[in-house]
Amino acid sequence: MQIIGADFVVLCDAEFRVFKRGGICFDSKEILAIDSYEGLCAQYKGVPSQYFESCAITPALANLHLHLEFSQNAGLLHFGNFGKWLDSVLENREVLMQENLEGISLKTAMQQGIQECLQSGVGFVGAVSSYGYDLKILADSPLRVLYFNEVIGSKAGVLDFLFQNFLARLEDSKSFQSESFIPAVAIHSPYSVHSKLLEKVLEVARKENLPLSVHFLESLAEKEWLESSKGYFKSFFKRFFGEEITSFYSAQSFLEFFKNTKNTYFVHCLEADSLALETIAKMQGKIITCPKSNRLLNSKLLNPRALERYGIPLCLGTDGKSSNDSLSLLDELRIALFAYCNEPLESFARELLLSVTRNAFLNTTFKLGSLQVGNLADFAVFKIPKTREFLAQNLILYARWANALYINGVEVLKRNAETNNL
Ligand code: BEZ
Ligand code: FE2
Repeated sequence: MQIIGADFVVLCDAEFRVFKRGGICFDSKEILAIDSYEGLCAQYKGVPSQYFESCAITPALANLHLHLEFSQNAGLLHFGNFGKWLDSVLENREVLMQENLEGISLKTAMQQGIQECLQSGVGFVGAVSSYGYDLKILADSPLRVLYFNEVIGSKAGVLDFLFQNFLARLEDSKSFQSESFIPAVAIHSPYSVHSKLLEKVLEVARKENLPLSVHFLESLAEKEWLESSKGYFKSFFKRFFGEEITSFYSAQSFLEFFKNTKNTYFVHCLEADSLALETIAKMQGKIITCPKSNRLLNSKLLNPRALERYGIPLCLGTDGKSSNDSLSLLDELRIALFAYCNEPLESFARELLLSVTRNAFLNTTFKLGSLQVGNLADFAVFKIPKTREFLAQNLILYARWANALYINGVEVLKRNAETNNL
């Protein structure tokens, strides 16, 4: 059992309550009490305690969308236009997954990615895995992991092979299953997954109650393809697969497949209209936005007010280094705070903080995301400027790294004084 305290303990609950000079008493399993730091030290005499000056304690952050396997993609892909980016992904497919790119092994690049997550206060990741190369490295890391085994494939002739390959990766990931490593399923997107493959994979997900992730309506090109089977994707399938095909779905018919699934994360949704949002809301889906990735590929940001209208919780992720320069969730938060310049500053900063804590776990069985007795002992500590009242904007603006990170009550990251951000 131990106690930590700080100038502000930010619960990240629905009311956005903050304890000044607050403390948390916890063991390796869960949070036992939250109160004033002095109060807890008096109540639990003899329990080791540590106070973080000029700091805020929040729940450990959640980055629900990244691709760790694409950690060595810097400089290789075309940014600025979704179609040109996807062309560059396909043209560089072999190079991107080379074991040793420019002297850095993929494993080292993935380790660096994990460090970027931890250093930005992330304790939980939703990692989309295309190949399974990231399985062991993630399972061995201190992170809690929702491991999304991804399925992709549009060519009718290879669907059975792809399904068997997916099942094999899912089984592999199940051998690492634990309280902090949860196998799950990712559907790449409506343009890249054949409806027959989707049906079979969703049947598995439903039967085994596996969380789901899907890229959905990320680009205008995808919207046009789903609406009319025209535009960029028409030539894409001809150029890369030598096929003249039409879209497997409309946006709505694709969403219909997910009607009876639970815990689905829809990623991007930049082009989702009100009908799509209404449908996602009805199935209690969540939407993950990745503002930096969206800026680089689509020059567009998701409108958080549209989500609010339908009561859809907004979650924030980084996406992978195939469409971002870093996996730091603090970078993502800071850029989002600047980029959404029509949003009121402080209330939006709070909303952003909730998008990487509470919202990530709403309507799930994970005891994570807000600080409350009985929840898991996962915390991030951030150095912030000294103020009388807590300002979410100060955390987002000034915290470049987490000063400490606890997962399961264990401190997994410690920065020394020289590398402190203030
Ligand atoms: C495929 O593997 O079939 C595919 C990959 C990327 C985009 C579309 C289709
Ligand atoms: Fe992605």
